[in-house]
Amino acid sequence: MLKLTNVETFYGQIQALKGIDLEVNEGKIITLLGANGAGKSTTMKTIAGLLKPKNGSVEFNGENVTGLRPDQLLRKGISLVPEGRAILTSMTVLENLEMGAYQRNDKDVRNDIEDVMQRFPILKERQTQMAGTLSGGQQQMLAIARALLSKPKLLLLDEPSMGLAPLIVADIFKIIKEINEAGTTVLLVEQNAKQALKIADYGYVMETGKIIIEGSAQSLLEDPRVVEAYLGRKSTS
Ligand SMILES: Nc1ncnc2c1ncn2[C@@H]1O[C@H](COP(=O)(O)OP(=O)(O)OP(=O)(O)O)[C@@H](O)[C@H]1O
Ligand SMILES: [Mg+2]
Repeated sequence: MLKLTNVETFYGQIQALKGIDLEVNEGKIITLLGANGAGKSTTMKTIAGLLKPKNGSVEFNGENVTGLRPDQLLRKGISLVPEGRAILTSMTVLENLEMGAYQRNDKDVRNDIEDVMQRFPILKERQTQMAGTLSGGQQQMLAIARALLSKPKLLLLDEPSMGLAPLIVADIFKIIKEINEAGTTVLLVEQNAKQALKIADYGYVMETGKIIIEGSAQSLLEDPRVVEAYLGRKSTS
């Protein structure tokens, strides 16, 4: 479904991605792990069109989409929930959801908003409140729900569990799994490596702009390098 070949992305003179090869197969959950500053968000932004790669190619469903704009990629079915959520705090929950569907002109939008509010009952309850009044976990749910309203084929989630209490983190992972089971392919960036690998099919580990390890989620859970660097004492289960 998604294929990155030798992708190199720069911030000015600084090379953040040093030749990334990565594949996401339809229907799967793929996780991208790595320490702070490894280049995970840069990879996500490059896939979503927020950054243009200097070299290499991005293919989506067999089509070369390298360098397309975010709105063009969104229409092709790639939706990013960025790190830090980026919801509109001084708009209502409902308005945020409506924004998620802004590029659609079909008649199903109302129904789809109803559907996501069924899945996230708290958003229905709070639909007229300012999004900024929601808790961190609720804001993350809103960010995910908003992305779903673009009807993505591929959902890019950049650290959805960041800053959330363990119980809420568990909810978020459960929701990601459910979204995938309902047919959406997921690329998930996480610091919470253990939980990410538990729901993922396949994973990649990045270090300073490169993929250094890849394999099935099960093989990564057992890989001593991954265990030592990412699954040590601090990870919750
Ligand atoms: N806007 C920017 N300008 C210059 N350098 C940047 C910019 N954003 C990121 N970088 C650099 O690019 C590299 C990769 O950053 P990136 O944000 O992709 O890492 P990350 O893996 O997402 O890290 P984190 O776990 O902290 O979110 C880092 O060295 C970072 O300092
Ligand atoms: Mg990041």
